[in-house]
Amino acid sequence: MSHNFSEMVDRRHTNSVKWDVADNELPMWVADMDFRTAPGIVAAIQKKAATWIFGYEEVPQAYFDAVQHWLTTEHNWTPQTDWMRFVTGVVPAISSAVRRVSHVGDNVLVQAPVYNIFYNSIVNNGRHVLSSDLHYADGQYSIDWDNLATKMADPLTSMMILCNPHNPVGKIWTPDELRRIGELAATNHVTVFSDEIHGDITTPGKGYTPFASASDTCAAVSITAVSPSKTFNVAALHAATLIIPDENRRNVVDRGINTDELAEPNAFAIDGSIAAYTTGADWVHDLNRQITANRQAVTAFVQENLPELHVIAGDATYLVWIDCRDVTTDTQALCQVIRQTTGLFITAGAVYGGNGHDFVRINVACPAERLADGLDRLKRGLQAFRQQNN
Ligand SMILES: Cc1ncc(COP(=O)(O)O)c(C=O)c1O
Repeated sequence: MSHNFSEMVDRRHTNSVKWDVADNELPMWVADMDFRTAPGIVAAIQKKAATWIFGYEEVPQAYFDAVQHWLTTEHNWTPQTDWMRFVTGVVPAISSAVRRVSHVGDNVLVQAPVYNIFYNSIVNNGRHVLSSDLHYADGQYSIDWDNLATKMADPLTSMMILCNPHNPVGKIWTPDELRRIGELAATNHVTVFSDEIHGDITTPGKGYTPFASASDTCAAVSITAVSPSKTFNVAALHAATLIIPDENRRNVVDRGINTDELAEPNAFAIDGSIAAYTTGADWVHDLNRQITANRQAVTAFVQENLPELHVIAGDATYLVWIDCRDVTTDTQALCQVIRQTTGLFITAGAVYGGNGHDFVRINVACPAERLADGLDRLKRGLQAFRQQNN
């Protein structure tokens, strides 16, 4: 591997949300990696900083060309650049789209357990969360198609937020599954917002399929969001792209992102994103090898040391979803004990809805040495929990 993913970067006292923890604590919660970003991005930002000029920025054609290049070369999808709009983040864009595409009181469909902030974007805008919970059996999640069809057909359902690939369960949806979602959405006049922020982080050889690329029907009902933020660990660059093939839907969303003031980049967003998308492929491929190794390390450690837990097999995201129901169905309490006794800070799954209360989510995007520390703490924390609950 030509890039270094073993450096133990000290991120304490750097305004990092993730590392705003006590001295003895080890954060493995929020989706933010402990790796320095790709060299091409740093060079582009340094070049920009050296100009000493940070006036209002516009989005050049080169930005959209770079997004198109990335999606073509990495994901075999070549959306037209005039379908694209720059936005300052995926979550703000979801909230804006909810306000424009649905009406107060409508249902917005999700598939719990799912990224918790989707719920905020829906509820904070006066819409109802309608979940077609993922079906869980034999350690695997799948779509309950009858349930999804019924919920799509509810006249109050106007929008679905699809997590593709899925955070927290780490699942890559197949082209067939995506096509089926697209058909249901088209039949029921539901717009599908496909959040593809985790799409670049997949096991080597197991790429994801962009929803809009799965069929013409999917493209027609879709709003897709992509971003370098998870891929390159540049969340605070605040850069993302919406891709909306349907002209009417594009115009509606375009009005939203402009009136919500989400369409103007900061001084580093454009140069940083172009560098990511045009020079960062090798770095991401190396990163994916490291994350896959880390995922395998967690799975092996749990099998050997903590057989009462079950790691859900996943091929996407750097988040590992672990079934703890043989220990407790209240992982909030479990995570509290783990944090209090060992300092390991992981996420209790209840916030993701569905059967999340039986699970914990662990962020494994860190050097192997730090991961080993985390796993050791997990083991000790679990022992402490068992002792306290016996
Ligand atoms: C599925 C998903 N969407 C969006 C985000 C955040 O996006 P942004 O920082 O661009 O608002 C995250 C962060 O964890 C995520 O997991």
